[in-house]
Amino acid sequence: MKQLFFVVMLCSVTAATAAEPSVDHFSSKYGNIDHPGYKILRTKPLLPADFDQQVFDELWKIWPKQYHSLAERASPEERRRLTFSRYGLHEAPENTGHTGPALGYVDDGMSGWVMNCFSCHGGTVAGTVIPGLPNTHFLLHTLVEDVRLTKLRLGKILTHLDLGSLHMPLGTTRGTTNSVIFGVALGSLRDVDMNVHLDNPRPEYLHHDMDAPPWWHYHKKKMLYADGFSPKNHRVLMQFMMIPRNGPETLKSWEPDFEVIQDYIQSLEAPEYPFAIDRDLAAIGEKVFSANCAECHGTYGDNEHYDQRIITIDEIGTDPLRWESLTSEYRAWLSKSWLSRYGEDPVIADTAGYVAPPLDGIWATAPYLHNGSVPTLWHMLHPDERPQVWSRTESGYDTEAVGLEITTFNEVPADVGKSSERRLYFDASKPGKSTAGHVYPNRLIEEERRAVLEYLKTL
Ligand code: HEC
Ligand code: HEC
Repeated sequence: MKQLFFVVMLCSVTAATAAEPSVDHFSSKYGNIDHPGYKILRTKPLLPADFDQQVFDELWKIWPKQYHSLAERASPEERRRLTFSRYGLHEAPENTGHTGPALGYVDDGMSGWVMNCFSCHGGTVAGTVIPGLPNTHFLLHTLVEDVRLTKLRLGKILTHLDLGSLHMPLGTTRGTTNSVIFGVALGSLRDVDMNVHLDNPRPEYLHHDMDAPPWWHYHKKKMLYADGFSPKNHRVLMQFMMIPRNGPETLKSWEPDFEVIQDYIQSLEAPEYPFAIDRDLAAIGEKVFSANCAECHGTYGDNEHYDQRIITIDEIGTDPLRWESLTSEYRAWLSKSWLSRYGEDPVIADTAGYVAPPLDGIWATAPYLHNGSVPTLWHMLHPDERPQVWSRTESGYDTEAVGLEITTFNEVPADVGKSSERRLYFDASKPGKSTAGHVYPNRLIEEERRAVLEYLKTL
């Protein structure tokens, strides 16, 4: 299996070079990078730096032998690409010189890399970078582990994630993160006015990984998050910066920025499917979709309509851990806090299950379901054939199954030892990672599923 990662890394070098022209074409079309909100996100440091340029440049020195020797022989540009590939980082569309921080980081002015929202909310599909697309390549925990070792080697000071990750998993699979629990942990140290109380009792954490949703759905949503419990306002989007160092005044002073950032997120549109579509088949698929799927997912095209619905956990049958992980105490805290304007923006404390999301740009956001367990739309439409262990290729796009190009396994190969390699495998037997549920496509005959698959490319 070691070879697999090696090959993946090598491919990424060639693929990244070959895909370059389309990156520019796409990025100027999607991601609205001229919006002032994009500029704030790309330039304003809102957290302490996670590491500096020297640490980044030397990460490869602690890689396992075979990747180490590959990096050692590489030019500085290739080494940057190998490093981006290992951790799931992407070049920002405007950063044509390919220097300094990746899309998901901001320069703090002292060569420090500060995490921003795009670390999870800026991704690549079919070799194309799109801000607002979930970063389904991100390996946050692996990055933080390697940063910690490199800092220790260089005698540098450890910071919040280096230490935090010793107590909390940041993400156990490529592309997914434990971010909901980060929010719970940070929130537990605040009172309703955002004052910090480090001695507050710690709640019990139900760790689980999530696949971030695309930002271009934001303008269609009434309430936020997988279970639709949270009001849609700019303050809720500020939870990411609630580390104790950012006290109540600092946090509140950034409110005007977050109004602009919310406006940016609200402005985003889904990218168009860049490969061939059989329009006749898609037209048949649209009818099947209207009869079987639109009641929950809405309609598209000329008669666009989306009325956000929450489907109960028993009815939808997908992995319940995300839903169970937010306690009623947590939801009650949010409903009384500054974040919800002290309840003026209502919180649904007893949300019943998961939101049926809009499906605009669904071709681009694989893997599917809130936990990122289903690698392609074909597998969404064939609930009994979803792979239980799979690993994606770096930049392959499967136009037949519509989604990630994957290799499937019966179990995680026995020779995969290190947790950094284990994270390259999605293993549905682990907590929070079930592929179960959403069996509605079983109502359809094979021809209907084929037609719906074609229709989904058009959204
Ligand atoms: C470590 C990864 C990570 C970072 C960093 C991050 N997010 Fe998210 N974000 C997520 C995940 C995962 C979800 C899904 C949470 C859920 O549904 O419970 C999410 C959900 C959202 C949503 C809800 C969308 C919807 O359709 O309901 C918005 C909006 C959002 N994030 C904005 C932001 C902003 C703005 C920032 C930066 C200030 C940010 N996020 C930073 C991972 C992240
Ligand atoms: C009764 C409501 C309901 C019906 C009917 C329904 N869905 Fe869904 N669908 C959901 C919910 C709820 C989710 C989110 C589940 C989760 O993430 O755990 C979902 C998720 C999805 C996703 C993944 C979205 C993503 O971003 O990961 C796709 C694709 C999808 N549905 C397609 C379909 C198709 C095609 C049909 C018709 C054959 C259909 N659905 C019928 C409720 C429904």
